Amino acid sequence: MEKFIEILANKEELTKRALDIILAKIQDALQSRDQFTIALAGGSTPKPLYEALAAQPLPWNQIHVFWGDERYVPGDHPDSNQRMARQAWLDRVNFPPTHIHPMPTAANDPSSDAEQYNRELEQFFDLNPGEFPAFDVVLLGMGDDAHTASLFPQTEALTVADRLITVGNKDGQPRITFTVPLINQARCVMFLVTGANKQQPLAQVFASQGDGMIYPSRLIQPVGELWWLLDSEAGANLT
Ligand code: 6PG
Repeated sequence: MEKFIEILANKEELTKRALDIILAKIQDALQSRDQFTIALAGGSTPKPLYEALAAQPLPWNQIHVFWGDERYVPGDHPDSNQRMARQAWLDRVNFPPTHIHPMPTAANDPSSDAEQYNRELEQFFDLNPGEFPAFDVVLLGMGDDAHTASLFPQTEALTVADRLITVGNKDGQPRITFTVPLINQARCVMFLVTGANKQQPLAQVFASQGDGMIYPSRLIQPVGELWWLLDSEAGANLT
């Protein structure tokens, strides 16, 4: 694993830096594999990045978009991560519909929907049983409790290691989420973290010792590159 930590002056600079890195990863992927796979983060931080990607003249027919986690709501619900990314990016460009892979949330059974998305990934990446695919980029945010994706502190999802997708739990509300081993198989994981409220959890995540069950972002140690892009508020107290 190669780890990079950059503190950018503000959200605008952070978004531009994230865009530059992603564009480079797209170029690398298309040169060597003829397709680029990315898993999107939800929450609010990545929205300007998705808007910036929408303005790029990219070969959308060589790009596949997945989600790293999803609230268990319909795809058009205000809380949906899928809805946010479609409005900010995917619906603004000529993306082939079959290249957009939202997490299913319609079975009224989170476990069933998680298993369905697991099968979808197995088919897309043509996996052997027990094999974990390498996404080109996995985008992540981090909550002020140091959760990432929908891997929340002290939840069972943190320990799931025998599948790609599992059911997360936020205060009793179900989520669909990548598992830790799936995230850690990525060629590049990029955290986008802004705001003074992330200072304390970041200190815990970056500490030399700590418990990943309490600070789940500590568990993200990918085989590829790990990028932490922080704004000056979030990164204020890091030495
Ligand atoms: C979600 C996200 C979640 C998010 C963090 C940070 O579904 O909410 O995947 O993990 O990335 O909570 O959210 P902000 O970017 O809004 O701070």
